[in-house]
Amino acid sequence: MPLSFYIHIPYCVKRCGYCDFNTYTPGELKAGSDIAQVSNGYIDLLIQESKIARSEVSTSKPISTIFFGGGTPTLMEPADLGRVLKSLEADFGFAQDIEITIEANPDTVTKAKLNQLLDTGINRISFGMQSASSHVLKTLDRTHNPENVIKATTWAREVGFNQVSVDLIYGTPGESIADWDQTIDAALALPITHISAYALIVENGTKLAAEVKRGEIIIPDEDQTADKYLLADEKFTKAGFNWYELSNWAKAGGECRHNIAYWQGSNWWGLGPGAHSHIDGKRFWNVKHPTAYRERLISSTSPIMDSELLSDSEKESERVMLEIRLPEGISKSSVTSAALLRLESYLTGGQLSAQDWELGRISLTLSGRLMADRIVREILL
Ligand SMILES: C[S@@+](CC[C@H](N)C(=O)[O-])C[C@H]1O[C@@H](n2cnc3c(N)ncnc32)[C@H](O)[C@@H]1O
Ligand code: SF4
Repeated sequence: MPLSFYIHIPYCVKRCGYCDFNTYTPGELKAGSDIAQVSNGYIDLLIQESKIARSEVSTSKPISTIFFGGGTPTLMEPADLGRVLKSLEADFGFAQDIEITIEANPDTVTKAKLNQLLDTGINRISFGMQSASSHVLKTLDRTHNPENVIKATTWAREVGFNQVSVDLIYGTPGESIADWDQTIDAALALPITHISAYALIVENGTKLAAEVKRGEIIIPDEDQTADKYLLADEKFTKAGFNWYELSNWAKAGGECRHNIAYWQGSNWWGLGPGAHSHIDGKRFWNVKHPTAYRERLISSTSPIMDSELLSDSEKESERVMLEIRLPEGISKSSVTSAALLRLESYLTGGQLSAQDWELGRISLTLSGRLMADRIVREILL
């Protein structure tokens, strides 16, 4: 089975109001006033953890994908990210066609920095665009100016990134269909090869959740959010971006192989605080806080906090949940006959592809994609 690495960079300059990712501002870490100060020594900890991975993982296969996620990985010095890559390459080897992605906040890159990132071997970049509408960005509490996304993606292509992606969010309170339409057009005007579009999730404990609770902002209804999905799919498809997972569209050859590895239940090791790993059916995860992570490693203790072995039924639920989101869906022979009976109404209702059903597969049509969770529940009942 191929091996992937996720590398977590848990720092952001400012926390966006909707985000509950495991990331920290310098102020939250109370260890200094800037990112350079709080992240000092962090790369060495990642390298140290990668040595633990080397001793634990028995595969002799080279690494096929790496993903720097966050947080804001582009706050780190490219040379430092390059040090982690060099160490992984020396210990595991890289597949010839390795895909190495970095998530980037559009405000944190310059053309020179993009050049340096490319020089480290990173060959795919994903920008957090979210929206082209200033008032939506304001509700999301984002700091970037929409103009910076145009600059950043153009520079990325100019310096030689062949794979450039943007992340979009739809369904933000106050976002009209016209705003979303404008965001879609703005994204499609960029020199990109991949788009992820996720409906906004109001995560407990965020500033956004508090605003919703106080009634200061109102979450749009589900029908409008579904209409936005349909509009995005129509326009992306027309522009040559094909859906290859419920929330992801790509030009031919632009699919993110790292994400495909997750969805197919492949092996991956997550480096960094709070990072999760999955190796041969075993899941384990690291202590969440960067300080706890540092303390573990400097005392030569493993940062792994806990682990679980998935039971066969848990593995099966996970497989169904992930694979139904892909265009090829799942095979009919892998589900119970009772589940097949329950799915018949979705087949006649047009939410499952009749053509694929004949070929022995359960796959979602466009209207089925809007109720993927319900269909998963029917399968697993
Ligand atoms: C770790 S962030 C990406 C990198 C960078 N920090 C940025 O925001 O530009 C990963 C992506 O998760 C998505 N995301 C985060 N919180 C979300 C939420 N509550 N609902 C929907 N999408 C969310 C955003 O689209 C974001 O671009
Ligand atoms: S920049 Fe990205 S990771 Fe950081 S708080 Fe905002 S959405 Fe979350």
